[in-house]
Amino acid sequence: MCGIYGCISENASVQVLEGLRKLEYRGYDSAGLAAIFSDNNDPIETERTTGYVSDLVLKANGRFDGAKISIGHTRWATHGGVTDHNAHPHSSEDGKITLVHNGIIENSANLSNKISKLGYALSSETDTEVIVHLLDHELKTQSDGKSHLDAFCNVISQLEGSWAIAAMATGLDGILISRKGAPLVIGRGQGNISVSSDVQPFYGACSEVAYMKDGDNFLLTSSGISSQIDLEIPEFEVLEGIYDEEDPGNFPHMMLKEIHDQPTSLSNALSGRISSDGLGAELSGLELSIEQIMKLDRINLVACGTAYYASEIICSYIRRLTQVRAEAFIASEFPAKSVCSPNTLTIGVSQSGETKDTLDALFKAKKFGSHISSFCNVIGSTMSRLTGNGAYLHAGPEYAVASTKVFTNMVAVGLLFALTISDIKQSEKKKIIHELRKLPNIISSQLIDMDDSISDAAEMINSSEPPIFIGRGALSSFTAKEGALKMMEISYIPCLALPGGELKHGPIALISDGSPVIAIAPSDSHLSMMESSIRECKSRGAKIILVTDNEGPISDLADIILQTNHTHPELSPFVNAIPIQLLAYQVGIRNGVNVDRPRNLAKSVTVV
Ligand code: F6R
Repeated sequence: MCGIYGCISENASVQVLEGLRKLEYRGYDSAGLAAIFSDNNDPIETERTTGYVSDLVLKANGRFDGAKISIGHTRWATHGGVTDHNAHPHSSEDGKITLVHNGIIENSANLSNKISKLGYALSSETDTEVIVHLLDHELKTQSDGKSHLDAFCNVISQLEGSWAIAAMATGLDGILISRKGAPLVIGRGQGNISVSSDVQPFYGACSEVAYMKDGDNFLLTSSGISSQIDLEIPEFEVLEGIYDEEDPGNFPHMMLKEIHDQPTSLSNALSGRISSDGLGAELSGLELSIEQIMKLDRINLVACGTAYYASEIICSYIRRLTQVRAEAFIASEFPAKSVCSPNTLTIGVSQSGETKDTLDALFKAKKFGSHISSFCNVIGSTMSRLTGNGAYLHAGPEYAVASTKVFTNMVAVGLLFALTISDIKQSEKKKIIHELRKLPNIISSQLIDMDDSISDAAEMINSSEPPIFIGRGALSSFTAKEGALKMMEISYIPCLALPGGELKHGPIALISDGSPVIAIAPSDSHLSMMESSIRECKSRGAKIILVTDNEGPISDLADIILQTNHTHPELSPFVNAIPIQLLAYQVGIRNGVNVDRPRNLAKSVTVV
């Protein structure tokens, strides 16, 4: 989703363009840049374009080199179409103030009435442009002795909604920044001070980071951060972690690389979290003790999209391996009031740690007294800082928009959590842990052994017959849902996913000659029921793509078998995830989709 990068240095725009490039993975549809070169009163130089940062670089054509202060933006359209005019930065009529914004200004309609009465005309359809005219008005009308920051704070106080904003003005030796509900972090390096939507672009440019809080309004100059008197300034701390460049290596796409990363990413998720005797899991980093968690009234998991499907699988583990009640919720639908109280725990599950819906659900949970925690991939993200406790997913950076290795790491960390608080028989626990330890190797051989069957299955799928994914039991039916989501995202083919038993209650009407049905059928207690569901489809003409480790009679029903490795039934989501990810990838490629950057999607969803 939208990305902001700003910089004050000797060659600020070069750093901003590099910063925008490193924010590309968030997803966007247009990009823009603004720069100030000297202390004189000239209008600010700007450029913006639909398309990619590389298009912006071409359009800028070196014109911005040598700028001392610069801000840039990647826009993911919410208000107004994807056009050059709607791209950021947005400038005042005289071109002396310009700004970029991430988030949504909910009262923009009222504010545009206000500015039109003041004689300003909007030149875009965005909710952002009003801010620049308000700032222009404020600067022109405020009393002597007031600063740019005072004017900026006055404007910010009129806004409702969520935002991260960076603004520049001629005559101002810095960048005005504000954060509320959308991420913004400050970095400091040799000869530069920068601001960014996330820390990724700081690696290589900054050695220290300062995290802004909601409600912070600052002026950033080459000498540091300043605020109005009553506001606390965040301390710089050492920038932890390493930057893994978005480089697919020998793979044609990041998504394929990330699918193949899974043996390593799973190994990282498990590392140090299984006790040396192999009998227990040790998920440290949680605020509540195991005893406290076991006495909770309930555990809520809040998440979106892929993270939500992983959360449903995690809940199924918690329910089966412990006595604690657990429920997963789509974060934007979280009924906090009825499920949160002081004796509950609400866990946000998120790759980015910046998903606004999930953050809002955690805020609500806190308001109603729940303990909060997170399973999150990005170190230092808003979610991990908000909850202050939890477990990192350790999947490494995930750049492809469609989540793959983070899905399996979420399920792994969730399983470790359930095992940590589990009170099942030691012998049962030991069996799961024993197999869990082998999982990276099992996945590795699964990836190596996948044969042409994936290509054959991909060929069977075309947009005229929407694929139906089925499974039975929470582990397989939510894996089926994840399979359908993955395929929709990167092939643009409408897909349906449901528990096999539900077919006969309506959706079976969709099945006709040749309808592809992807059946997730591991060797577990649901296998014979799955066989019935598959027969119901087959007898109505469906073509069956069977995802299974089973070599029994069920395989006779398949048109194509995507063979998985055998493992403990509790671990079936891991082995089943691989073929459905690869299948989605291959169908996406066949459909000519840019699988790493599918249309309309963003990696980090920071609006509601
Ligand atoms: C699907 C996908 C999305 C995300 C969802 C939550 O491939 O990536 O459905 O899972 O937007 O994002 P995070 O995990 O960053 O909270």
